[in-house]
Amino acid sequence: MKKYIVALADYLYDLRRFWRHSAFGKDPARRAKHLQPRLMIAAHGIEKGLSFREFEPRRGVAKLRNALSLIRKHRAMGLPADDPALVMALDAIHHYRQRHAEAGVDIDDLLSDAEHLHRNDVDCVEQSVRLVDPEAFTRAEREIVLAGMRERRSIREFGEGPIDPAVVEAAVTDALSTPSVCNRQGFRAHYSLDRATIDAALRQQNGNSGFGDRVPGLMIVTCSLSIFTASSERNQGFVDGGLFSMSLMLTLHHHGLGNCPLNWSASFRQDQNLRAAVSIPEDEVIIMMIAFGPMPEKPLAAGSRRYDLAHFLTRLERRGTGKQ
Ligand SMILES: Cc1cc2nc3c(=O)[nH]c(=O)nc-3n(C[C@H](O)[C@H](O)[C@H](O)COP(=O)(O)O)c2cc1C
Repeated sequence: MKKYIVALADYLYDLRRFWRHSAFGKDPARRAKHLQPRLMIAAHGIEKGLSFREFEPRRGVAKLRNALSLIRKHRAMGLPADDPALVMALDAIHHYRQRHAEAGVDIDDLLSDAEHLHRNDVDCVEQSVRLVDPEAFTRAEREIVLAGMRERRSIREFGEGPIDPAVVEAAVTDALSTPSVCNRQGFRAHYSLDRATIDAALRQQNGNSGFGDRVPGLMIVTCSLSIFTASSERNQGFVDGGLFSMSLMLTLHHHGLGNCPLNWSASFRQDQNLRAAVSIPEDEVIIMMIAFGPMPEKPLAAGSRRYDLAHFLTRLERRGTGKQ
């Protein structure tokens, strides 16, 4: 019974935080951070429809209407004209209009009152559909990417010397290509190279004994809850934040910073303690930490043997009882 209550307290803590900080049930016209993800969702819905070779007139009309209504709210709230969510929506609408004009399909009824929403009043580059270059990835580059994945190992002992913040920035910039739900980009990275700050954070973490006191750099990966608009998205932050973390481990490694993922399997008390110790914005959920530092000359890693392929991969079978 006691364990059940402990679990319940942790779940209630998560529920309260999601309820308070997500965009679920919030009026998008009140706060920019609740409007922006909705605008991103609508814009992405339109641009996705445009990314198919076959043109289908009026595909995604509901998304277009939704985007127009959100853009009006955006304007009414006086939000910046270079807000990426707005630019993305205006780009997508511009392309939507263009594709229909090229196909000779009249959509004036949809856009008649939207002339003032035209993207021309925003100085931006058209980006709503991009051509992917299949040759961009040469064979040699593919091999390097694969080698990077195969060779990555958790590094718990680091080399000497200072860490240049510009290198950390480069690694995070490279990791920004990580996909996210509807391109909402909720993941965030908070880092420190300061001994006292790192110690204060690692004191709350369960898996750094024996090396935490010598970690030269620490990153805390979080995901903003404000980008989630439905209760069904309650776990999405862990997926997006997890993917971002994996990218970061690879890009840090690429930039010469060995690193070790550190779990944030924390009770609500630990979560509160960490927030009291270091500056994590209240509306972000903590995903995990990454300890990093210069690669030592002869890095040694735990063996961490993997199971065979059959342990991970099976053929999916259709069940007869599934809902049709
Ligand atoms: C989400 C996550 C949390 C982890 N937490 C810790 C941790 O707290 N302490 C630690 O020493 N290693 C931690 N690890 C590292 C794992 O032990 C390691 O990834 C695993 O043994 C595989 O080894 P490799 O990373 O060298 O391939 C974590 C890994 C992941 C993915």
